[in-house]
Amino acid sequence: MAEDKPLKCRSMVGWYDPRVLAHSAYKLVIANIFGRHSDTRLIEALASQPQNEFDYSSAQGDFWFDYAADIGDGWNSTYAIADAIARPELMLEINGQPQQTEAGRVLIFGGDAVYPYPTRNEYDVRTETPYRMAFAGRSHPDVFAIPGNHDWYDSLVAFSRLFCRPERGFAGCVTRQTRSYFALKLPANWWLLAIDLQLGADLDEPQVQYFQKVAARMDDAARLIFCVPEPRWILEDAYPSHASYEELSSTRFLEEKVFKRKARVFLTGDLHFYKRHENAEGIQKITSGGGGAFLHPTHAPDTRQLRNGFEQRAAYPDEKTSRSLAWRNLLFPFINPKSGWLYAFLYAMSAWLASASLEASDVIDVRTALAAAMNAAIRDPLNGMWLVSIVGGFIFFTDTHLRSWRILGGACHAVLHLAAAFMVGWLALLLTVQVFDLAYGSIAQLLFSGLITFVLGGPVGAFILGVYLFASIRIFGRHGNEAFSSLRIQDFKQWLRLRIDAAGVLAIHAIAIDRVPRRWRAAQRDGKATMEANDERATAPRLIDRIEIRP
Ligand SMILES: [Fe+2]
Repeated sequence: MAEDKPLKCRSMVGWYDPRVLAHSAYKLVIANIFGRHSDTRLIEALASQPQNEFDYSSAQGDFWFDYAADIGDGWNSTYAIADAIARPELMLEINGQPQQTEAGRVLIFGGDAVYPYPTRNEYDVRTETPYRMAFAGRSHPDVFAIPGNHDWYDSLVAFSRLFCRPERGFAGCVTRQTRSYFALKLPANWWLLAIDLQLGADLDEPQVQYFQKVAARMDDAARLIFCVPEPRWILEDAYPSHASYEELSSTRFLEEKVFKRKARVFLTGDLHFYKRHENAEGIQKITSGGGGAFLHPTHAPDTRQLRNGFEQRAAYPDEKTSRSLAWRNLLFPFINPKSGWLYAFLYAMSAWLASASLEASDVIDVRTALAAAMNAAIRDPLNGMWLVSIVGGFIFFTDTHLRSWRILGGACHAVLHLAAAFMVGWLALLLTVQVFDLAYGSIAQLLFSGLITFVLGGPVGAFILGVYLFASIRIFGRHGNEAFSSLRIQDFKQWLRLRIDAAGVLAIHAIAIDRVPRRWRAAQRDGKATMEANDERATAPRLIDRIEIRP
């Protein structure tokens, strides 16, 4: 039963809730100002114990480990993945045959461990509680994590408390790292190097020195897996003019100057889907961001052939599914009801300013009313500044790789809203004067028409935004983030289960849950409180891709 859920379990983050928008913007600005001027990685490096690589190389038999990224959103998606990861054994159909996989000895979180922004409470409720319940009464892996951009929004304070204090641990699991980056020495001379690139910045000097020391302990046959916070191989294609997305700056520096060899595998999250890219040398670049956060589209932008020579070998969910999900933007006001508050305010304010110089005789005819409103916009400085800031805001919001398109797209979007605000405001005037017979300009008439504009403005504005997002992704392949964060899709979640066998072969299994449970019931496992799925429509974890990398 739904009411069996723990009291504090959260639904998916409503990114268009004005409170979330305002708070995220505030955190982002603060992090960009202070994070960039006072690098927490440097303070951490000065204050913490020296950190070596963490050695798992002597593990006997097959060595299993799990990789999940972009966790810590709604309960259903986050807990579904946590529970699947924590099961001691998981049967998968591989090449038509059922095969057993085992829970990892190590669990790596690849960035963005919480949404929408990091606080102790959000990490507790959205991240640690689901994992604590999933591991209750089961064996616990060692947990490691690198931060993503969302973890950096408080300059890493809450992240460090959770993952970089070995005496504390995470969800009852052992944590060992004392910095936001780490190296694991795995069996068969595989090394996993997890890199922190701050908010799209570069490597810091202590981090480079750390990896230099690790590199000095590698022999010539060492094989590298890089964990990075974002798939710059995809982002540099989508945003060619964005300097910080240039992939080569930091990872190639590490390959050429520090480790003096190429990494065989790259793992990352940040984009909330599964995609695997491969080049002619067999190097794998895997984006696996399905640990709990809302789904991103796989059909836009087109990443089938990247400019760096990598080709897409697998994508989940498939492009057809992704394309059809985008239609849900037409239901934007219902999926994001709180977004209406913002538009209600914007529309009511715009209509109020536009009607300030309207005479009673202007009201009846829409063209006369429009002319009077435009006249007021030009002659009244406050009115003009309001309109300019609205147009500026929409231009800022527009996602495109060309500035001219940004200005054109943003201005069209703004004009659409202003036209809608005018129409809603004019209808409200007409209603109050003609239907309710209130005297134009009377306090009752002004308040009543303001109220009508406010009430209608919310859903109308939200619907126009939904149409804009749908058209942007459908026609131009842009606004992938905004047009899918709006949908708050909790399904199509996935993670990676990796195995190094005795021959040194690294097998990577991408495992997905197409539909996560919506209902849960309280249960006991070994005397510990946990939750069990109670939803027949939920689907079991299944294999969506598998690759073997030979030594
Ligand atoms: Fe993310």
